[in-house]
Amino acid sequence: MKMLLEIFFLVVFVFPTAYAFWIGAPILLTPKESIRRAFRYCQIEKGKIFYDLGSGTGRSLIIASKEFGLNATGFELSPILFIISKINLFFSGAKAKVKIKNFYQVDLKEADIVFCFLTPEVMKKLMPKFEKELKTGAKIVSYAFKISQWESIKIINTDNPGKIFIYENIQKN
Ligand SMILES: C[S@@+](CC[C@H](N)C(=O)[O-])C[C@H]1O[C@@H](n2cnc3c(N)ncnc32)[C@H](O)[C@@H]1O
Repeated sequence: MKMLLEIFFLVVFVFPTAYAFWIGAPILLTPKESIRRAFRYCQIEKGKIFYDLGSGTGRSLIIASKEFGLNATGFELSPILFIISKINLFFSGAKAKVKIKNFYQVDLKEADIVFCFLTPEVMKKLMPKFEKELKTGAKIVSYAFKISQWESIKIINTDNPGKIFIYENIQKN
């Protein structure tokens, strides 16, 4: 019985989390003040749609929803982080949602603002998706890493080592 439980834990929690860290980025959290600064700069109207691709423990969702009135959804592949996010959202009272989903499979066409704290390789892989799916004028906020082929509309220096790179989709679609 104990062995069965261990296998269950590995298969359901540990392997998917390791996979998410491997294909996307490991769990590192964006400082809350950096998230706030990015939102302040973007001046997105209340009710607009915010996605965090790889939402970790859900902190950007709580800030987006409670402090900026955005309609926030996070996509997280790690079941452990998904459960932690659910708990955090519940105790914060934020109306944001979190889904256990691979962000490569999320349709981005509704998003007004997309947040990422991922690796440069992953940002590069996401570029064609951003170009294909994001509406004109949608903003991408990338903490710490730039999108190499895109020109940012703003770079915000922070008190932490990571800068915030802000992009706007100017493609006609
Ligand atoms: C560096 S953390 C950023 C967490 C959060 N966005 C923040 O800024 O505080 C990256 C997150 O992406 C998740 N992740 C990696 N690849 C993913 C994928 N393909 N789909 C969904 N989540 C993924 C990881 O599990 C991790 O929680």
